[in-house]
Amino acid sequence: MSDPLLQVEAIDVAYGDIQVLYGLSFEVHAGEIVTLLGSNGAGKTTTLRAITGLRPPQAGQVRFRGESLAAVPAAGRAGLGIALVPEGRELWPQLTVKENLELGAYGPQARPHAKQNLEKVFTMFPRLEERQQQLAGSLSGGEQQMCAIGRALMSEPVLLMLDEPSLGLAPILVDQVMRTISDLHATGMTILLVEQNLHRALEVSQRGIVIETGRLRLHGSSAELAASPEIRAAYLGL
Ligand SMILES: Nc1ncnc2c1ncn2[C@@H]1O[C@H](COP(=O)(O)OP(=O)(O)O)[C@@H](O)[C@H]1O
Ligand SMILES: [Mg+2]
Repeated sequence: MSDPLLQVEAIDVAYGDIQVLYGLSFEVHAGEIVTLLGSNGAGKTTTLRAITGLRPPQAGQVRFRGESLAAVPAAGRAGLGIALVPEGRELWPQLTVKENLELGAYGPQARPHAKQNLEKVFTMFPRLEERQQQLAGSLSGGEQQMCAIGRALMSEPVLLMLDEPSLGLAPILVDQVMRTISDLHATGMTILLVEQNLHRALEVSQRGIVIETGRLRLHGSSAELAASPEIRAAYLGL
């Protein structure tokens, strides 16, 4: 296998005095979809924040294409092609769909291509094109998720991370989000997915990583995890 695109190496992350991640390590290879699993509060969102630079680790480090990101601030990491679709979408509700999307292209690398990338996003999500002048806060939950994904795509990501993108969506929209993730993967994008919907996540991904109270608990191919008695008991209710 090629060198990993992303290497999380023994990171400790704390909020003030409260340590949340303990020596967490895993890798994501170029072209993979990897799912990060774990119960509420396990540290999944914190892991993504450590990778984006919003919550730098106290120990350990994150490497991207082999280079340490320790000295690279969050904006610089976006410029390297690391994008996050945050938990709860975090759109600007009082701005239009188009304005939200354009704000995704704020980096110096992506800005010159904003127009073409907006066209690509509209091709992928015709619904957003129809509603481009509508305030983002007035979109349905599914449309907001598309808008949040579209905004991340405007930064031309190499590694796209999605934090519980299907949360709160009706099953038909969950299908749509999962299809979008597969389509992006088919274009060569590498994806790190945090998903509560374990069945769907393991269907779409090649590998899974399970964290428990901030530590690596299990990792394996999606097929292995889906067959694991431990996973079936803990997450699949089987
Ligand atoms: N901003 C914060 N300040 C203090 N504690 C936090 C903060 N964000 C998350 N935590 C705590 O860190 C732990 C991991 O949270 P999080 O990474 O959001 O978990 P997950 O995404 O797996 O549900 C939880 O115990 C949570 O309460
Ligand atoms: Mg979370």
